[in-house]
Amino acid sequence: MTMTTSTDLRLRDHVDRLAEQHPPLRLDDVDFTVRDRSAFAQRYGHVLDYMARVELEVDRNVLELTTMLPDPPEIDRYFYADVWQPQEIQHGLILDRLQVELGRPPTVADTDSVSFKLRLLGTLAHLDAFQDVVRILYYLTGMSTERSAVLAYNLLHEGTLAMGETAVAETVIGPIKRQEPGHFVFYQLSARALWAELAPWQRWLVRRLRTISFGPVGTNNDEQRADFGDVMTTLGIPADDSFAAQAVRVERELLWSHRAGIDVPPYVLKAFRRSVELARARADRDT
Ligand SMILES: [Fe+2]
Ligand SMILES: [Fe+2]
Repeated sequence: MTMTTSTDLRLRDHVDRLAEQHPPLRLDDVDFTVRDRSAFAQRYGHVLDYMARVELEVDRNVLELTTMLPDPPEIDRYFYADVWQPQEIQHGLILDRLQVELGRPPTVADTDSVSFKLRLLGTLAHLDAFQDVVRILYYLTGMSTERSAVLAYNLLHEGTLAMGETAVAETVIGPIKRQEPGHFVFYQLSARALWAELAPWQRWLVRRLRTISFGPVGTNNDEQRADFGDVMTTLGIPADDSFAAQAVRVERELLWSHRAGIDVPPYVLKAFRRSVELARARADRDT
């Protein structure tokens, strides 16, 4: 527990507030009315499926966390078990129900397989100095995925309104997107505090591990990378650096500010571009 007391208090305060102001959304409060089901399914069906899967896979993320961080600070456990997971699961259930209402099959989420890579990290994390490295990787991943989620939900919200699907915009996407920024803030506060305490060798290792392991939210294989590329295309997310830059702004500041001229870490740009390429290649194959 290397966290300074003031940061710890701020974090506790933040998580208390999230718990109080953002209870998990309820399916009963959602209005699933869709004016033009086939047009909406055609345009956004695959986006709903992608997001539903990623949201529902938080159950696996919690397993991964308990594997990777055998002895987490109490505040981390409080956040992910009592606040974050219950909120995200409801996001997943609501989005999945919406796509089923549109006549699509429910999503297929992997909720229980923890990769060998993560189990190895977990074994090493029994050493305190290494656990701090693993923890900051967790916060960095949290920041980029939550930030990507906010940006993507904003675009989906705009697109849904533009199609005149007010009920979906106001009772599905709107309420979900309002719960994501608080998650980002938790990771950001945690990452900044922990980064300040890391030794040079730990920082070096974080940069190396991040460089070889970064992936867009919800991507574990090429099929899912192509799915993410399709989501980017539908939402109008460009494969240039603007979206990527926003998704990893704080990571760039913490890890790479000593390198002049790096606007977006190259591994991030590469990962986003690869998704778009894989989506294109798959579309070519299928036509
Ligand atoms: Fe979510
Ligand atoms: Fe979230």
